[in-house]
Amino acid sequence: MRLDKFLADMGVGSRSDLKKDIRGGKVVIDGKMIKDPGFAVPEGAQVLYKGQKVAYEEFVYYMLNKPAGAISASEDPKQKTVIDLLDERKRKDLFPVGRLDKDTEGLLLITNDGELAHQLLSPKKHVDKVYYARIEGRVTEEDVEKFRAGLQIGEDFTAMPAQLEILASGDTSEIKVTIQEGKFHQVKRMFHAVGKEVVYLKRLSMGTLLLDESLAPGAYRRLTDEELAGLKGHWGDR
Ligand code: URA
Repeated sequence: MRLDKFLADMGVGSRSDLKKDIRGGKVVIDGKMIKDPGFAVPEGAQVLYKGQKVAYEEFVYYMLNKPAGAISASEDPKQKTVIDLLDERKRKDLFPVGRLDKDTEGLLLITNDGELAHQLLSPKKHVDKVYYARIEGRVTEEDVEKFRAGLQIGEDFTAMPAQLEILASGDTSEIKVTIQEGKFHQVKRMFHAVGKEVVYLKRLSMGTLLLDESLAPGAYRRLTDEELAGLKGHWGDR
């Protein structure tokens, strides 16, 4: 891999600034100053940029407890995105795996691994996404049956069967719902279809990946090796 791309991928600077720095002698590889931005970095080489070691990682994986108010996008000219919440040195190719609405909280995986994202999001892979919600209105066993049967949401879309669990039923109800798709506003539309409204929504899990409840809204951490292996186990090793 080219030296300027290697460094840019690791988030230490923009490609154009890095080219200048490389020409200016700020990079040492295996003990030798390298001034060519197109230099092919050998596998396993020790790369120092401004004296700091930079190790190459092909893929990175973060678990974010998404707060309400951030949008699930990589960039936005006006609004704060979930990527803006990662305040460490970060690479440029990160994206959120699927979308949570602006007002939804909870588990969001952020990565640059497009293959894993595809596998987790494809309805054909049947990866469970579990949400906790507070609902305006009394959620009943009849609703549970309707969710199980597969609700029509919108003119031409019938949701796959979903498992609805009532945690508390009253003027405001609390539920857990498990779905395997991720259509726009899906949970809200499913409740709307049974005449009720979601007033609070939080994602708790995606496949084997559970929200780390010690993360406050807006906080994040890297996935552990076990968490990553669990997610990949859904669709086999690469
Ligand atoms: N369903 C919704 O309605 N909103 C979300 O953010 C996620 C699932």
